[in-house]
Amino acid sequence: MSDSSVYPPSEDFVRQANVSGIDAYRDLYERAKNEPEKFWGELAEKELFWFEKWNHVFEWDPPFVKWFPGAKTNMSYNCLDRHLEKRGNKYAIIWEGEPGDERKITYTGLHRLVCRFANVLKERGYKAGDRAIIYMPMLPELPVAMLACTRLGIIHSVVFAGFSSEALKARVQDLGATLVITADGGWRRGKEVRLKKAADEALEECPGVKDVIVLKRTGSQIEMKPGRDHWWHELEAEVSDQCEALPLDAEHPLFVLYTSGTTGKPKGILHTTGGYLLGITMTMKWIFDIKEEDVYWCAADVGWITGHSYIVYGPLSVGTTTVMYEGAPDTPAWDRWWRIVEKYKVNILYTSPTAIRALLRHGDEWPNQHDLSSLRLLGSVGEPINPAAWEWYYQVIGKKRCPIVDTWWQTETGSIMISPMPGAVPLKPGSATFPVPGVLPEVVGFDGKPVGPNQEGYLVIRRPWPAMMRTIWGDPKRYEEQYWSRVPGAYFTGDAARRDEDGYFWILGRVDDVMNVSGHRLSTMEIESALVKHPAVAEAAVVGKPDEITGQAVCAFITLKGGDHDHEKLAEELREWVSHEIGKFARPKEIRFAEALPKTRSGKIMRRLLREIVTTKEVTGDVTTLEDFSVVSKLAK
Ligand code: WT7
Repeated sequence: MSDSSVYPPSEDFVRQANVSGIDAYRDLYERAKNEPEKFWGELAEKELFWFEKWNHVFEWDPPFVKWFPGAKTNMSYNCLDRHLEKRGNKYAIIWEGEPGDERKITYTGLHRLVCRFANVLKERGYKAGDRAIIYMPMLPELPVAMLACTRLGIIHSVVFAGFSSEALKARVQDLGATLVITADGGWRRGKEVRLKKAADEALEECPGVKDVIVLKRTGSQIEMKPGRDHWWHELEAEVSDQCEALPLDAEHPLFVLYTSGTTGKPKGILHTTGGYLLGITMTMKWIFDIKEEDVYWCAADVGWITGHSYIVYGPLSVGTTTVMYEGAPDTPAWDRWWRIVEKYKVNILYTSPTAIRALLRHGDEWPNQHDLSSLRLLGSVGEPINPAAWEWYYQVIGKKRCPIVDTWWQTETGSIMISPMPGAVPLKPGSATFPVPGVLPEVVGFDGKPVGPNQEGYLVIRRPWPAMMRTIWGDPKRYEEQYWSRVPGAYFTGDAARRDEDGYFWILGRVDDVMNVSGHRLSTMEIESALVKHPAVAEAAVVGKPDEITGQAVCAFITLKGGDHDHEKLAEELREWVSHEIGKFARPKEIRFAEALPKTRSGKIMRRLLREIVTTKEVTGDVTTLEDFSVVSKLAK
């Protein structure tokens, strides 16, 4: 990167910024690094509500950490009750449905909805430590359900509505959930996503589930199983709208969110209460530069970590107005997002490079039809942003007026880890720039030793931070192995990175068998295990293929069992199969049938070679461990 592509923040932006100028950022960073207890302790005291104070700020017993042990707090209280006096009449949520319907809910209104639903849960006997699965469309009732759970200490796990019944079943079982909260269906591009039907299928093999609470959204025909299934609106009509928030330990489990790892089995990432709350609250203020009068829109889905931290908990904790949009960006036309920005005068917009590339492709005429002058700040998350997408976002959407915060983080990290503070850090397109205070990242080699400037290596984090995951649900050993064993004493991110001569971090992508498709994490192993369950498939190997829009696309190499096969028909069948096993978003874009797959002499599929084949169409890397080279030359053709 040459100096000409450095973008310092404008004077106007710096003047109004929460963190104003590079020295202010450096000061925060140094204080957090040198005196973490004092730094986080003071912020926790000033920025959050606590029923009782802590004994220590944190206890680090590697790889397990406790933040604010001894303290008592409550997420729902921090997101609702503490705002009522000052912001009761301010909108907490502005929601727009895909058909164009709209709901604006004030903090007082949201508080009532949450209390009511918490009373429903209480009446049915649910209490702190119980587990609930939430499988809902992007409706205000989704955050209502989440906040009601946290109000009582019920541990929730939101399952993205795009997941199939099979994926849902695996999560219900792994979590040991006794309650499922869902809806009859949701709308996506005018079509109904039949959630209750999928839940019914999943629950056939989940005897532990006692209650299913169903929100009526589409009004379509569904089956209600007597004794087990209840309508949300019927239960809600019978309870009061006042419910005290329960004082909970700072380390009380808040939620589990499943994400893909390097094996076929998803990992239940556990986040707890106090530290997570502090992490998301501070990053909202530092990185999204939130002001009292802002309207903030994170155009993600609540079903992923971005939605948990930056649609629901972070925005509500800082008392801002969070916009939620139910549907697709092209419904009814490609200006849907810009209509929303104009209509609600959105100040801060946060989205993914994949979405930016898709919008870019449909042309400037869509944003140019709308008044986007309310925008002050733009954000990007999920994958590295390429310079072309960055420039378009900066010029056509932000009109060269809005800084872009490229935020690097993970489901596991809970809150943003590396990102510019927009009024402090000169931007370099494609770089996530500098770490957030309290985060000590390093780029290291195979041996765990730091590499020099501009050298590539593994991205690791040296010290625990407040919103860090605590463990993998039910599998602390896997937690230790996956994250804390590769480089002794450091958290292993699974990403490669380099740091340039100015200290800027450049994230280069995953180093493990995890793909990033449209900013969603997919495991090659998970899709492979789904594919080999199909009766015609002998072996499957899945790799990510570079894709102009989605970053990577799923490409599957398949060998078949004997017999005659119609390849075209079978490819379609296998796509459907993966939809059913995992979800539509995991469907392979490309399926290649092969006579054999490249393997090592010990029989391990060499995915690295397949990756090279789909990327460059040839293999140049080391093939000395390959058993039969003719396999590769056939595939490359
Ligand atoms: C992986 C985490 C964090 C919410 C969305 C994804 C990639 C994330 C960036 C970025 C480059 C990024 C990394 C990371 N990633 N943000 N700004 N620049 N890469 O959450 O599913 O947990 O995936 O997404 O590879 O490890 P996730």
